Formats: sequence, structure tokens, C-alpha cells
Amino acid sequence: MKQRRRTALLLLSCMTLLTNSQCAVAAPPALVPAPAKMTVAEGTFQLSRETSICAGPGAEAEARELAAALRMPTGLPLPVKTSEPKPGAIGLQLDRSLESQLGIEGYRLSVTPSRVTICAATEAGLFYGGVTFRQLLPPQVFATKQPARAPGGGWIVPCIEIEDRPRFAWRGLLLDPARHFMPPEFVKKLVDVMALHKLNTLQLHLTDDQGWRIEIKKHPQLTQLGSVRKESPLHGDRKRGDGQRYGPFFYTQQQIRDLVAYARARHVTLVPEIEMPGHFLAALVAYPALSCRGGPFEVRTRWGIEPDILCPGNDEAIALVKDVLGEVCELFPSRFIHIGGDEAPRDRWKSCPKCQARIRTENLKSEAQLQTWFNHRVEEFLASKGRRLLGWDEILEGGLTPGATVMSWRGIKGGIAAASAGHDVVMVPTTHCYFDYAQAKGANEPECIGGFVPLSRVYEFEPVPAELPESRRHHILGAQGALWTEYMWTPGDVEYFAFPRAAALAEVVWTPAERKDFAGFEHRLQNHLLRLDQLGVNYRKPSGVNDRK
Ligand code: ACM
Ligand code: ZN
Repeated sequence: MKQRRRTALLLLSCMTLLTNSQCAVAAPPALVPAPAKMTVAEGTFQLSRETSICAGPGAEAEARELAAALRMPTGLPLPVKTSEPKPGAIGLQLDRSLESQLGIEGYRLSVTPSRVTICAATEAGLFYGGVTFRQLLPPQVFATKQPARAPGGGWIVPCIEIEDRPRFAWRGLLLDPARHFMPPEFVKKLVDVMALHKLNTLQLHLTDDQGWRIEIKKHPQLTQLGSVRKESPLHGDRKRGDGQRYGPFFYTQQQIRDLVAYARARHVTLVPEIEMPGHFLAALVAYPALSCRGGPFEVRTRWGIEPDILCPGNDEAIALVKDVLGEVCELFPSRFIHIGGDEAPRDRWKSCPKCQARIRTENLKSEAQLQTWFNHRVEEFLASKGRRLLGWDEILEGGLTPGATVMSWRGIKGGIAAASAGHDVVMVPTTHCYFDYAQAKGANEPECIGGFVPLSRVYEFEPVPAELPESRRHHILGAQGALWTEYMWTPGDVEYFAFPRAAALAEVVWTPAERKDFAGFEHRLQNHLLRLDQLGVNYRKPSGVNDRK
């Protein structure tokens, strides 16, 4: 009896010990996107007035960025030093030889009670290590306007070992400032929030039937005439007009340069999209002779597809495109230049003498092949500037040009066809990646273009189609969420449609497929939304009711 009691007591104290030691290891931190490998250890590291940030050779710029991000919210001095990390410091070390283990964007982050170390092969890797470190701190560290009060225990980080690298190189969002213009300050905010999610590509849809939004020095008429429309569809009744002049709204070249530099410092590439030959009406308002029928035209005041498009039978139209793309290449250093290519009705080409003459002289068989011929001229021009052509999946229809990369939006079939033929692909299917579609059902949701893409649908997206042969899978560069703004009037509207779906997408494109787990994501999201609160992001609060599939 006595013996039995002693055994029971022993067992009980063991259980208590076990519980205590489990308590000493903090709950896994709510990192979004989830890292590839993470081990939580005992203990904590505390940021204090004595903490410095020590940059190894080549890590100075990233150390300054990290210090700048932490200083304002914490109110701590966090001096940046170029010395070996001392106990109590945060050390950033660039080691090119780590590329074989961590790739060009991966990092290793080690937090012990006495120091923090971030190692990477590149500055991008150091940056992402810094982003993860910031997410380990309390959400108040994302305050943007004034120093925040550290919660009870101070600026404390759990001890942890992380080794992390992205699954895909292209982790994108598309923003459409053509339908509704979005000011440069908002583009910067979006870049900041993207960087927090380790998203690295922002495609700017700069031109469309409803507005030309980029200054072109050689052709000022493009913005003088093309950046204003007489009215827009009425809020709540899209078939009628609102009677309100809209514009002039466009980005100056100086603003674009500023945005490119801002994004670059946060390891986000801005990819310009100049739509052609369709969705080109705003340019034809300035240059009606470059259409098949000659105009005159007005900037389109309704959404939808415009029948009047660029005339590829006209050499001057091709010259204009080259002028525009020449300036675009000067402004945007991105390797890819997006030329649209979608939703170009070819009816006008059928009855245009110039287009038909081009078809004959170039031995083409169809209007679809005429579009490919046109794309080829554009591709050659871009290649002369060291750039690659990117277009929506319609560019497959007349045959892909040799160097084209395809953005698959009408499902994933276009992506499969392109990758099977050895072309690179970015997946943006409407079914999972159109963030202009509704994210919940019900009358409380704002007006939108239609469709239904709830958070869980985004999360479950698998960018690499199962039917794609193993040998072609490397052609899937990644995926992107699309924020078309027909029904987004303000930056706050864009934020509502973008978040938290972009957080789900971040995990699709960053986290190893085998570590994805929607229940775990939803749990971490509760903490992550506190970060977005600090950043002043107008996200949609998941309700768990109307936002199920
Ligand atoms: C598209 O949504 N037309 C690419
Ligand atoms: Zn024509």
C-alpha cells in the first residue's frame, strides 16, 4: 500500500515536472508564412537599451533597414555597428557560401538568451531573416506612427532556431491603378505589407481602356488625353454612369523611380504591365490613327472588353509601342515586362486592309497568328534591352513566341500547355488567385465583380499541377494574387480584398507544401491580424460562417 502510494506520488511529480518543463518552452510563434524548419527552445532574448545591431561585411544596409524598422516602435537606440557581434547583440552575417544550403532568398535565424544571429547568402536572405525576427516580437513592434508600449514582459523574443527558404521565386500580387488610380503612398504601404509576408513581386497594371497611368516623355498626349475619363460606372448600378469626371491621374516618371527604389530596398520587384494590343483604348484616344478604324475615341467609361484595339498592320503603331516600352525599360529594372495580351477581340483586324495586308505579306494563317507576329516584334525589342516578355495566357492562341513567359489566368490549362512546351509560367487562376472576387457570401460584403474565392480556397491552391511531368515542373515560377480595381475605389477597399487572402497566398508560395495546414494557419492568423492592425490594414475579419466554401 505504502509502496503503491509512493509510486503514485513519484508519477504525479514527474507529470508536474513534465508540465513545467513544457511550459518553459513557449508556444510556437505565429509566423506567417510558416518557415521551412523551426525548433523552439527554452528561454528568451530581450531587446533593451543595450542591444546593438552588428553587421558583418556586406550586411550593413540590411542592418540599417532592420534597425530603422525596430527603432521607432520600440523607442530603443539600437545602434548599428560593424563589429563582431557581442553578447546581447543582433548579428547579421552575409556568407555567399551558404547559397547551396539556403538558396538566394533563404536565411538561418538563431535566437539564444545571449544573442540573435541572422545568416544568409544574400541581402534578400538577411532581409527575410529580419522579417521573421520582427514577427517573433509582440505585434506592437509593427506600430507605424508612434512608439508603442511593450506589452507586460517587454520586447521579448522566444529562443528559436529557424532555417528557411521560399518554395517559389515568384511570390506576387497585381495592383490595377488603371480602373481606379492608387496613389504612390499607398503603393509604398502595399509594398511594406507584402514584404512582411515575404511576397517579392508587385505587378502594376499601368494602362487599360479606362486610363493611361504612366508618364511617357516622348508622348505626353498619352497622359494628357488618356488619364482622364468623363465618368465611371455608378457605384451600385454598374450599367449607368456616375456623371463624375475621373482624373487626370497618373504616375510621373519621378514617382515611378521613387517607387522602384522604395520597393527594391524591401526586396520587392515592380513589374510593369503595358496592355497591348487589346485594352489599349486610352492610348488610341491620343493616337486614333493607330487603330484599325481611325477613331475618334473617348476613354472608356464602362468596365468590360473594348472592341477597338491596336492595329498591328500599321508600322507606326509598332513604333509607338517601342517608344513606350523603351521608356518603361529605363524606369523599371525588372527582368520581366508584362505586355498584357488578354481579351483582344480580333474582329476589327478581319476588316482592316492594313491588318489583312500584314497577314498576306507575313504568310500568316489567321488573326490569332497576327497577334503572335506582333508579340514577336515586341519580344525582339524587349530582348534588345535584356528583358523578357510576359503575357496573359491568350498569347498561346496563335502560338507562343520563343522567349515568352505565360501568366495563366483562365484556369491552369494555359500554364500546363506553356510549361509542357518549355516556357516559364506564373499561376494566377481566377479560381484561387482573383482577389477581386468575393471572399464571403452574404449581404454584408461589398459590391464586387462576382465569383467566390474564400480564404480556404486561396490556401489550398497548389501552383504545380499534378499532371505536369516532373521534368517540366521547374517552369512554374510561382503564383500571384490579382487585385483588379473595377470595384475597389480606395486604398482601403484594396486592403479589404487583399487581406487576409494575401497572407494565405504567402504560405502557398513560401512554405514547403508538406508543412501547409489550414487549421494551423487560421490559428496563427489570429495573431497575425494583430500585426495588420498595427499597420493600419483594413483587412476583412474572417467570420468562419459565410467565408466557407
Ligand atoms: C484578365 O483578367 N483579363 C487577365
Ligand atoms: Zn488593323
